Amino acid sequence: MEVGWPTRGGFLLCLAVSLLLQGRGDNFTINCSGFDQHGVDPAAFRPVFDRKAFRPVINYSTPTHVNISFTLSAILEVDVQLQLLTSFLWINLMWDNPFISWNHEECVGITEFTVSAENLWLPDIFIVEAMDVDRPPPGLSAYVSSEGRIRYDRPVRVASICNLDIFYFPFDQQNCTFTFTSFLYTVDSMLLGMDKEVWEITDTSRDVIQTQGEWEFLGINKAAQKLLVGSSIYDQITFYVAIRRRPRLYVINLLVPSSFLVAIDALSFYLPAESENRAPFKITLLLGYNVFLLMMNDLLPARGTPLISVYFALCLSLMVLSLLETIFITYLLHLATTQPPPMPRWLHSLLLHCTSPTKCCPTAPQKRNKNLGLTPAHPPGLKEPVEFVGKVLGPQEAELNRFPGSSRGQQEEKTQQQHLVSLWVQFSHMMDTLLFRLYLLFMATSIITVITLWNT
Ligand SMILES: *[C@@H]1O[C@H](CO)[C@@H](O)[C@H](O)[C@H]1NC(C)=O
Ligand SMILES: *[C@@H]1O[C@H](CO)[C@@H](O)[C@H](O)[C@H]1NC(C)=O
Ligand SMILES: *[C@@H]1O[C@H](CO)[C@@H](O)[C@H](O)[C@H]1NC(C)=O
Ligand SMILES: *[C@@H]1O[C@H](CO)[C@@H](O)[C@H](O)[C@H]1NC(C)=O
Repeated sequence: MEVGWPTRGGFLLCLAVSLLLQGRGDNFTINCSGFDQHGVDPAAFRPVFDRKAFRPVINYSTPTHVNISFTLSAILEVDVQLQLLTSFLWINLMWDNPFISWNHEECVGITEFTVSAENLWLPDIFIVEAMDVDRPPPGLSAYVSSEGRIRYDRPVRVASICNLDIFYFPFDQQNCTFTFTSFLYTVDSMLLGMDKEVWEITDTSRDVIQTQGEWEFLGINKAAQKLLVGSSIYDQITFYVAIRRRPRLYVINLLVPSSFLVAIDALSFYLPAESENRAPFKITLLLGYNVFLLMMNDLLPARGTPLISVYFALCLSLMVLSLLETIFITYLLHLATTQPPPMPRWLHSLLLHCTSPTKCCPTAPQKRNKNLGLTPAHPPGLKEPVEFVGKVLGPQEAELNRFPGSSRGQQEEKTQQQHLVSLWVQFSHMMDTLLFRLYLLFMATSIITVITLWNT
């Protein structure tokens, strides 16, 4: 016993010295004999672990090469108001530690194993755009290979700044950047590289991606350039992640109902202008459209003016215009049937010109009735001109009948009056048709413009 103590102490001393010597040896080879019997000897790695506070290089003038890649495993949220893209990344870093190496033939064929990451020097790579990064889960490990190559993967949830352009919403495509750079080390101490091609990153991301929400992952591009801050130059690698919104939800909830309402509004021109239903019908539609807009406001992006807002404003103005048109025509008809003002000569000739059989609105009965002044304009779509004329002239005929003994001059005057009324009514219907066509033209051009803009 008394003899054993110094012996054991001497052995421990020898071991420590030999380990220290190994650590400072030429190749910093780790003695791995016995890894197969007792597992990895912590003492063998002590010299490496003790150096973790320092960048692992032999000559401090040589920079550490760090290879970066990542896998996009989820697109969690795109916040238009804050201009943030929240995503989940698996970041892979690879670098060499020249103090680690072992002969894997001696070590029963072990070429790599994991080491708790807190025992190793880690490069301080961060994402420039990240405004909020989840702490990596504690207790991560890194793979260490027999040549001293260290592979460190960690998952992070990143909320990164992304310049979102929502003009083409809901058919928009966004291009968000992830710029990886070292926080501290300039190009003299750290160089960034990639051991994978971007298409490999894109493919793995596409295979792995868990949730994309309403977004579809399109692809990744990369650019490498140096970042100059003051007099220091930092190495950086920029990845462009392209994502596209899936528009189905918005098409079904926003565009389709809106188009239906506008179509009904256009069709409501076929309600006869004299009927009292047209204006209330249009007002109801307008009201319905406003309610629709209020309800769907939550679906629209909270910031900026997307094209779809312009489209909605356009639809609303079309409805307002058509209501104004109805009011105008109703007023015109009212004026025509109660106190028709004298018709200007040019308007009269224009009417005659327009209703002549060879021109725009040819119908057989018109010619027959022309001499009587009962020339009902027959705007396409207005189906009941004959009944209408009868209705309008009814009171006047009744008036005529009330004074059977009135002189011939008075009767002449009445006929003149009737002629004027029918001319004005005809004019109103012509205006109605004309304005309806203008409305259709305006609607078609504006909708085609919006759709072409969306498609570019
Ligand atoms: C490794 O260590 C063992 C003792 O643990 C020793 O016997 C052996 O000689 C060492 N090998 C080398 C190459 O230093
Ligand atoms: C360290 O590296 C620099 C540049 O690479 C070289 O000039 C210098 O000689 C090296 N020092 C040693 C001790 O090898
Ligand atoms: C980094 O990747 C390049 C290939 O692009 C490779 O030659 C180099 O050995 C890698 N370095 C590390 C530390 O992984
Ligand atoms: C994203 O934007 C960058 C420049 O800001 C450009 O180089 C890159 O090609 C764009 N990527 C896509 C997919 O549009």
